[in-house]
Amino acid sequence: MTIARDRLRVAVQKSGRLAETSLSLLRRAGLSFRASRDRLFLYGENLPIDVLLVRDDDIPGLLMEGSCELGIVGRNVLAEQRLTALPGTDAPAERLALGFGGCRLSLAVTDGGPITVPAQLDGLRIATSYPGLLADWLAVNGIRAEIVVLSGSVEIAPRLGKADAICDLVSSGATLAANQLHELVAILHSEAVLAASPHPLGSAKAEQVERLCARIEGAQSSDGARLLMLQAPRAALAAITRLLPVRESPSVLSLDGLPDDIAVQALCSGALDWQHLEDLKRLGARGLMVLNVERMLA
Ligand code: PRP
Ligand code: ZN
Repeated sequence: MTIARDRLRVAVQKSGRLAETSLSLLRRAGLSFRASRDRLFLYGENLPIDVLLVRDDDIPGLLMEGSCELGIVGRNVLAEQRLTALPGTDAPAERLALGFGGCRLSLAVTDGGPITVPAQLDGLRIATSYPGLLADWLAVNGIRAEIVVLSGSVEIAPRLGKADAICDLVSSGATLAANQLHELVAILHSEAVLAASPHPLGSAKAEQVERLCARIEGAQSSDGARLLMLQAPRAALAAITRLLPVRESPSVLSLDGLPDDIAVQALCSGALDWQHLEDLKRLGARGLMVLNVERMLA
């Protein structure tokens, strides 16, 4: 039975690597929230979009059963879900890559140990919380190893004698180093993605999803974006454009009563430092102004 719910629900990791950035992305997309007493439900105050704070591994399940329409989760979690889902079930789909929470799923072994290449794992035991992805990679690479499935603290398995190697997420590498382990090979590169429930949506909710996606993309592209404004001799335009870290062709405006001059507005990404401005000035630009971009909508 499905309960009619007209508000959109987004599942977000409640604690861990993606938690804080996921929420701040939603806030930058213009959503504001009021937290429930237990702080696990955030009620959307200005749009009919609520947030459910959950364990990241639960997000694919929530999307599949339709309890949430969207989720922010690591691509690794989605990929694992796809490989271990029962045949015939629709898996959640990736809607947008979010550009944060970068990490890799890697095979790792004990420092100073005998294993130096993945082929040596043949016949050995590998501990992981990602049995689907690991089995897939082992099959493709023709390595027969025993997979020891653990739900957490995978990195201590070799020390406990439970496994000869591990297959776990690595971000900074600090966890591996703290456990005297090092990477052999990365089997999957991952980042946070916006995932969508496989269930079809009514038109009102579908519209909310489109709107949220457009806003998230806008928030992402305004990151580090600068608007450069200047005036210059028309003849210098090509040289000036070549110097700019522009994202798209600049707007060029004529100036009243100054037929040989133009005003230029250019959306730039990356640094626009003093050196840049001085170089532009040398080409004849004047009245240079750099503004931070607060919001963008394509
Ligand atoms: C991963 C992984 C390691 C840690 C690696 O856990 O299991 O414990 O991050 O990060 P590092 O290389 O920066 O030290 P995660 O935060 O995804 O939590 P979970 O696996 O318990 O969901
Ligand atoms: Zn997790």
